[in-house]
Amino acid sequence: MMDQFRGSLEIDLDNSTSEDEGMLPVAPLMIEHRLIERMIFILRDEVELIKKGKMVDPVMIDTAVDFIRFYADRTHHGKEEDILFRELRNKKLSKDQKRMMEDLLVEHELGRKMTKSLIAAKELYRKDDKGSVKEVIECIEALVEFYPRHILKEDAGFFIPVMTYFTPQEQEAMLIEFHEFDRKLVHERYDRIVGRIEKARGLPGRKMKADWFKYI
Ligand SMILES: [Fe+2]
Ligand SMILES: [Fe+2]
Repeated sequence: MMDQFRGSLEIDLDNSTSEDEGMLPVAPLMIEHRLIERMIFILRDEVELIKKGKMVDPVMIDTAVDFIRFYADRTHHGKEEDILFRELRNKKLSKDQKRMMEDLLVEHELGRKMTKSLIAAKELYRKDDKGSVKEVIECIEALVEFYPRHILKEDAGFFIPVMTYFTPQEQEAMLIEFHEFDRKLVHERYDRIVGRIEKARGLPGRKMKADWFKYI
């Protein structure tokens, strides 16, 4: 069953190194897809077990939601939207490619809504509403159906063709920007966590520049 999650374009993760020359900027994005597929595979396994009578595990769902929000959305979709798609808007894409990019953006939004729905269903379940198991199942199934389809669309029909619009220098600059983007995220993540706890406790916190992590 795992094969169906591998996407149509294989990247030889075991035999490639980060030092590979001429790496396309979409290569890291496609490698990230493989990790997202692994979590989706876990969710598929989980939902099948729930359907067979296993209790909903809110902690497991919290972990999956954290992965989807922080890794699949903020880290991965973040690089797609804030860097790759931003640069593609300056290129003369074909009509079909333009439409596909718009579709991909709409799908990212859809993924966010699905994740919110899963959190809501899980919260209902946690509040002892066992009748919400059905909603939990539906929400997980929606995500399990959505992500592989979205990933396949990018891997098989979008990422590689649009790379032809970029010069080797532009590709190199994009890879550097991707790395910079990723580097800041861990600081941003824990800055938010600390801020949230401070706020919940009514603590003043330390006043830091909003973009302090850019200086690290
Ligand atoms: Fe995407
Ligand atoms: Fe993607």
